[in-house]
Amino acid sequence: MASQIEKRSADRLVIHNLARHDGGGETSMSGSFAADVRAGLTAQPKQLFPKYFYDEVGSRLFDVICLLPEYYLTRAESEILTTHADDIVSKVCAAGETIVLVEMGSGSAQKTRLLIEALLRQQGELLYTPVDISASALEGSARLLLNHYSALQVIAYAGDYERALASMRASKSAHGRKLVLFLGSNIGNFDDDEARRFLRSLRSTLDAGDALLVGADLKKDAATLEAAYDDELGVTAAFNLNVLMRINRELGANFDLRQFAHVAVYNEIAGRVEIYIESKAIQSVQIEKLNVEIHFALGERIHTENSYKYDVRQLATLAGSAGFALGDAWFDRAERFSSNLFVAA
Ligand code: TRP
Repeated sequence: MASQIEKRSADRLVIHNLARHDGGGETSMSGSFAADVRAGLTAQPKQLFPKYFYDEVGSRLFDVICLLPEYYLTRAESEILTTHADDIVSKVCAAGETIVLVEMGSGSAQKTRLLIEALLRQQGELLYTPVDISASALEGSARLLLNHYSALQVIAYAGDYERALASMRASKSAHGRKLVLFLGSNIGNFDDDEARRFLRSLRSTLDAGDALLVGADLKKDAATLEAAYDDELGVTAAFNLNVLMRINRELGANFDLRQFAHVAVYNEIAGRVEIYIESKAIQSVQIEKLNVEIHFALGERIHTENSYKYDVRQLATLAGSAGFALGDAWFDRAERFSSNLFVAA
């Protein structure tokens, strides 16, 4: 019986693998983990791309971050979706039309359940297309969703946004009205230009009238923001430093993680939390597979992530420049976070 159910849910799943490893390998060197690490750590200042956080360990650590008392973002967004999912879904299209749900950066897809359930209430069945850099997170979440919702079909893309959008554009088909989710303040991990480019690229996979729901964290006091990205238990520190562990594992490096510290600072002028890995000593690190030695000064930093904070006006202007019009915005009771519904113009 169990195997019959499994088979049936497996029949409702297609995963397109756009990369060979979690956030990593491609067939060419350009854009690969190895090439990006080489370029990033030999640059001045040093930097690493945030997409490389999400190997299997990193994806699991991120799920724990979402449970931390300091990391209010996930709870605030869940509160909004719990309260307003039916309202959001009903705004996307007139009765009778079928919505296809797309999600960029789906991760564990926990909050997505609130919208999946609202859509199932409205239309009975649903095609869900999640995109995530982590193949392991994607497989795990798709399996759980398919076992739980018998009227759900999943067509997933494992890879980075760019490749997934190219792939979706190539297969642009008459599936119906789309609702695209971009939750968790993922938009904040782009700077202004990157966000505009991403939104334009996304817009080109959509038809006029399709919808985009963007979760964006709001500007607030520095203490609250810095605590959200530097929790007492040290999970965010582990999440950040895991990228060095990954370089050790996959590229044969000898980073001593105890010689590096996690740093999160709110840059109020730029409106972003900046995340760094800081060297606690003068030290050198060998990366065997790249055949390079990297030198660190005392206090030297590797930039690993920005998390921009928004106000709704600013976000609407950004989306407007990429071909989206703001429909509605919803907030949690404490007004820490926003869910913004845009319509492809
Ligand atoms: N999208 C998340 C955010 O900006 C990503 C994130 C949460 C993150 N905590 C982090 C990234 C810590 C780097 C380090 O809130």
